[in-house]
Amino acid sequence: MTRLADLHGTVALITGGGSGIGKATCERFAAEGASVCVVDQDLESAQSVAAAIGGLAIRADCGDSPEIDAAFQACESHFGGIDIAFINAGIAIGVTDLTELDDDTYFKIQRVNVDGVTFGARAAIQAMRRRGGGAIVATSSLAGLIPFPLDPVYDAGKHFVVGLMRSLAPTLAMHNITANTVNPGLTDTNILADGTKNFLEQANFPVMPAAQIADAVYGIVTGGGTGQCWVCQPGRAATAYEFRDVPGPRSAGAEGKRPPNFRLSSS
Ligand SMILES: NC(=O)c1ccc[n+]([C@@H]2O[C@H](COP(=O)([O-])OP(=O)(O)OC[C@H]3O[C@@H](n4cnc5c(N)ncnc54)[C@H](O)[C@@H]3O)[C@@H](O)[C@H]2O)c1
Repeated sequence: MTRLADLHGTVALITGGGSGIGKATCERFAAEGASVCVVDQDLESAQSVAAAIGGLAIRADCGDSPEIDAAFQACESHFGGIDIAFINAGIAIGVTDLTELDDDTYFKIQRVNVDGVTFGARAAIQAMRRRGGGAIVATSSLAGLIPFPLDPVYDAGKHFVVGLMRSLAPTLAMHNITANTVNPGLTDTNILADGTKNFLEQANFPVMPAAQIADAVYGIVTGGGTGQCWVCQPGRAATAYEFRDVPGPRSAGAEGKRPPNFRLSSS
């Protein structure tokens, strides 16, 4: 399994790199010695982050697979390969009552939070197979592990990210590629609507700086584990979530048996 002891000489591609958690991770990775491709649908913000860290800015909509494939190819051609992919771009919609969800809003969030992660992971795997290994981290959320009644479709998409990374991990291990998620709680970025920020401030509810999530992503990439989901909460060190195994079939005997080579978590 690939273990990147430090990031000197590595190449990282980060989606949603123009703002918030992605931006903080671009800055952290560059400070650790990585060459960074800042990918965002907002070219101006990608360019401003890239200019500050000596990285490469690429405009791509992560929900458009030809665009995201082209972004990975441009990064590979420019830097000679890709070692780390942080598949991070995401949006929230804040629709609590499902009967008020219109189709356009539904397809809009699925396109970024589900299609975008799938297309990003696929392109990353192709590039990392060519490289001989690598590390993929996808941004889920605390909402990928618990219910989030304020935005159930967002919550479901973040569960998808957990399921995708955990299911990819065992197969990718044979290609020397790790696959993990980072699962932040409330983080001070633009995704939080102004009203939410004001409400949290008035309620004295703690939110994290984006740099804390960047620290966690750095720890995941250099830690070498796979199939793990790293919970980030204000004031706490990032922690790998402990999944419980599900019961085996009853007919398999008192101990229960799982199919061979089947583990729910490699942690
Ligand atoms: N901030 C939080 O409290 C929090 C908590 C848990 C998870 N997250 C997740 O963190 C990730 C990053 O969000 P953030 O909080 O930094 O928000 P943010 O709004 O500051 O940054 C998101 C970035 O993604 C880009 N983006 C959006 N749609 C895109 C698309 N289709 N293609 C390419 N780029 C696109 C935006 O332009 C922006 O630069 C998201 O997946 C979000 O769901 C955030």
